[in-house]
Amino acid sequence: MEYILETNNLTKIYGQKEAAKDVNLHIKEGQIYGLIGRNGAGKTTIMRMISGLSKPTRGSYSLFGKTGFEMRMMLKNVGVLIEHPGLYPRLSAYENLKIKCIGMGIRPKGYVEELLRTVGLENTDAKKGAGSYSLGMRQRLGIALALVGDPKLIVLDEPINGLDPQGIVEVRETLAKLRDEKGITIMVSSHILDELSKVADAYGVIHEGTLLDEFSVEELHERSGSSLIIRTDNTPETLRLLEGMNIRGASHEPDGSLRIAQGTDRRKEISRAIVQAGIGLEEIYLRTMTLEEYYLGMTGGAHNG
Ligand SMILES: Nc1ncnc2c1ncn2[C@@H]1O[C@H](COP(=O)(O)OP(=O)(O)OP(=O)(O)O)[C@@H](O)[C@H]1O
Ligand SMILES: [Mg+2]
Repeated sequence: MEYILETNNLTKIYGQKEAAKDVNLHIKEGQIYGLIGRNGAGKTTIMRMISGLSKPTRGSYSLFGKTGFEMRMMLKNVGVLIEHPGLYPRLSAYENLKIKCIGMGIRPKGYVEELLRTVGLENTDAKKGAGSYSLGMRQRLGIALALVGDPKLIVLDEPINGLDPQGIVEVRETLAKLRDEKGITIMVSSHILDELSKVADAYGVIHEGTLLDEFSVEELHERSGSSLIIRTDNTPETLRLLEGMNIRGASHEPDGSLRIAQGTDRRKEISRAIVQAGIGLEEIYLRTMTLEEYYLGMTGGAHNG
């Protein structure tokens, strides 16, 4: 089994609206997979289908290498936190978890205590109701609820949304711990790439229902790292020159300049060669793109919503 979760043209149509369209995503065991997309992109729609909470209009998916009926049996290995965790506000974290355990017939001694430790809620005042917790604590309680029954894969819809910087760090640390210490595979959505960039191993970018791209963290760094921007009065000749210097993979920027990711440390050498070849050098500089810029470039603009 190459992928713990794989979708095959997964599509959901509401009326005329294609909320998810021919989505083919691939999640490997032990990965934290970030599903990135703006408001209304289709993240929740995809996660609901994958968790068995809604039926695809067409397309399918496999879980743990299984499809069809066998796949549905595998859903018991999937833990879910979608939108707001359904908490009993007057009950404590312990009691909320205990109720879910009882409902699922799970009763080993110390089970709830272990879950609380896993998400860093072990020191919470047992008398306080979850309704009085900070948003970050409630999100971590939601993650603990998704962990009841020891799932191998958990699907978390925007667990970071609305948290303050401290809360973001805590949730990120919780996710890394689940992956590293318990070997749990995590699919997590966010509308901000940077929020996941410190913890995710792979990404899927969803935009208007379509999965635009999928890449590993290594690929992301390659693509979004620094690059050299070169603008001359003779682009084809510049390309030939660069190839002669063994610098390949130049891409064309909208303003007619060339962007190269290799040879960024050879700027002086490149500008000298261009000048010596009699090409008019208009501009050459190093540009470092943030992950966020990379993502915004892909989804077309900075406006949100
Ligand atoms: N039950 C539904 N009925 C009709 N349209 C829906 C339904 N659920 C979602 N949609 C539409 O499908 C599109 C995708 O919605 P979805 O909730 O999956 O996006 P999202 O990426 O989770 O957004 P957000 O960041 O706001 O949570 C939106 O245009 C939404 O209005
Ligand atoms: Mg959503």
